[in-house]
Amino acid sequence: MSSEDYIKIFDTTLRDGEQTPGVSLTPEDKLEIARLLDKLGVDTIEAGFPIVSKGEIEGVKLIVKEGLKAEICALARVDKRDIDAALGCGVGCIHVFIATSDIHLKYKLKLTREQALQKAIEGVEYAKSHGVQVEFSAEDATRSDLDFLKQVYRAVERVGADRIDIPDTVGIITPMKMYQLVGEIKEAVRLPISLHCHDDFGMAVANTLAGIEAGAVRAHVTINGLGERAGNAALEEVVMALHSLYGRKTRINTQQIYEISKLVSELTGVTVQANKAIVGDNAFSHESGIHVHGILSTPLTYEPIMPEMVGRKRWLQAGKHAGGHGIAAKLEEMGWQPTKDQLKEIVERVKDLGDKGKAVTDTDLSAISRFVMRKSAEEEKIIDLVDLAVVTGIKVVPTASVKIILDGKEYVAAETGVGPVDSAVKAIQNITDRLANIKLKEYRLSAITGGSDALAEVIIKVEDKDGNVASARAAGEDVVIASVEALIDGINKILIKRKRSQNLVI
Ligand code: KIV
Ligand code: ZN
Repeated sequence: MSSEDYIKIFDTTLRDGEQTPGVSLTPEDKLEIARLLDKLGVDTIEAGFPIVSKGEIEGVKLIVKEGLKAEICALARVDKRDIDAALGCGVGCIHVFIATSDIHLKYKLKLTREQALQKAIEGVEYAKSHGVQVEFSAEDATRSDLDFLKQVYRAVERVGADRIDIPDTVGIITPMKMYQLVGEIKEAVRLPISLHCHDDFGMAVANTLAGIEAGAVRAHVTINGLGERAGNAALEEVVMALHSLYGRKTRINTQQIYEISKLVSELTGVTVQANKAIVGDNAFSHESGIHVHGILSTPLTYEPIMPEMVGRKRWLQAGKHAGGHGIAAKLEEMGWQPTKDQLKEIVERVKDLGDKGKAVTDTDLSAISRFVMRKSAEEEKIIDLVDLAVVTGIKVVPTASVKIILDGKEYVAAETGVGPVDSAVKAIQNITDRLANIKLKEYRLSAITGGSDALAEVIIKVEDKDGNVASARAAGEDVVIASVEALIDGINKILIKRKRSQNLVI
């Protein structure tokens, strides 16, 4: 692909993404994410803001040392000290910035426009004199006086900046205005234009796309839309919209999207909302009978893109909106083949549960089917709990030991944790993660009844490395036992699914 043909992806998950309130990554975490970003095919990895801390410098250096294909960039204000810190990390690109809006100049920097202009020139000249690529950002560009903004961009072009960036720092621009602004800046300078949009009004992606339509060639984005406050434009949304709706190309290997989304969520601790586009749990889930019927006939009816394009699988949800087609497909996936009459009864029971306000999990569906089809529970167990012992107390580290039968063999593990549930779950995970690559994805605990002997309900979701997901629920007076039962049930579901639908040896 010639470089004019594709939109370049400047990923700032490790810099602006890390500025998400409450998020802090270790240098090793950053390296792990950088490796996947490189595999994903981003053009630039903004690895950090070196002047900020020693750990930040270490992280950027680690990534540089890795010798990835992507350009490695570091952020610096237009000050010598910042630029030196970035240069010291050995990056090939420095992203220098200074604010240009009167609000920032007056209240934050206490500089006149002339002083800011001079500082921008000196910063770019200094960075350029060290032979690196220089991308210049006029922070708060979208609230800056347009003539002054153009003056600054022209000045940095004259002193050798390689490219300029238009940051919508507080996310206040609209798509139409972004289109116009990029048009204006394109008239003023000949340098390639990047866009850096924040999502304060939920328009970061739309603004980025509008700017690209107007001629910008590089998008600053983050995985899962992480970033300051409401975040930045999400890489997965910008890229999939470019490919699918705008007929534009990037170098992103889209099938890697889900894997990196999960890694970033895990390492940052920021969970992705269920209804988030492309990477949310529900993005390729279907429940209503009409939709599932359509999907089963031709996925295009209710899916704008195939889940496999972003490394995902379709998920059919049983519930009160579901119809016979959907339930039958789901049961088949789970290895059940009910007769017509049995299916009718299963659907009725599922709708009944839904009408009572219950979310019907895979375990429920399995239990209903088992009941209706008169299957014995024992037949369906690949993994079973043989023994569980938990020790906890005020001065004792909560410890759990478990004995499990997995595919006929006995395994024992012991783990400590922050509490009895945590240690028991970890002990089971110790075995199942190692032997069957299954991880706990979600855990919810609630009390069904009141009092100290309350009935606790545990709902869990587990996922294997192939993206097979199963949810399970258990209820009981003992929280630890209910948690373990739900976990074992969920793991069992995935193992049965694997064994039946793919005919794999576990
Ligand atoms: O949002 C912003 O303005 C930034 C700059 C450093 C480019 O992150
Ligand atoms: Zn930003």
